[in-house]
Amino acid sequence: MRAADIQSDITEVLVTEEQIRAKLEEIAARVASDYDGKDLVLVGVLKGAVMVMADFSRALPFAVPMDWMAVSSYGAGTRSSGVVQIRKDLDTDIHDKHVLIVEDIIDSGLTLSWLLENFASRGAASVEVFALLRKPDAAKVHVESRYVGFEIPNEFVIGYGLDYAEKYRNLRDVAVLAPHVYA
Ligand code: XMP
Ligand code: MG
Repeated sequence: MRAADIQSDITEVLVTEEQIRAKLEEIAARVASDYDGKDLVLVGVLKGAVMVMADFSRALPFAVPMDWMAVSSYGAGTRSSGVVQIRKDLDTDIHDKHVLIVEDIIDSGLTLSWLLENFASRGAASVEVFALLRKPDAAKVHVESRYVGFEIPNEFVIGYGLDYAEKYRNLRDVAVLAPHVYA
């Protein structure tokens, strides 16, 4: 796909690469001090959180274990179904660990509220959330997220890990997908 094609597939850039980088530095500094001396494990939610995890984890000043979970609640569409299915479970035991879930976005909140319950039932010492993006107007359930990068309007966004039908994850910015792409 050529750059010109991508431009016609988006209506607006919401968060730039530079803004993301600065925000990740800021949140990494908070996390480093909040978890000082604690047994922290980062859990990324595949596949959307891949870019956030890569950049956020490297902004941390210490070595930290990472694990991954894959769940699906969307299929190929643009709306959450609320039915969460585990596609890939954690490889490690999080019992007594301080878990920080790294997510790309909180939309309806259904996926994360399910994950929070699931991780609590595995005996984690604590479970907190870092979501790069949150759509406050789309919330169906309240999710307590200690770290949030940017609040964005209730529109379908792509880029920096976020996809539409597996495309656009490699865009460097977060942008609004043009309705003609999915209409
Ligand atoms: P919920 O609604 O459960 O959303 O909070 C969970 C997952 O859905 C994906 N999601 C999006 N993906 N653009 C995307 O590319 C969006 O605007 C969007 N909203 C939600 C995402 O993977 C999130 O973790
Ligand atoms: Mg996700």
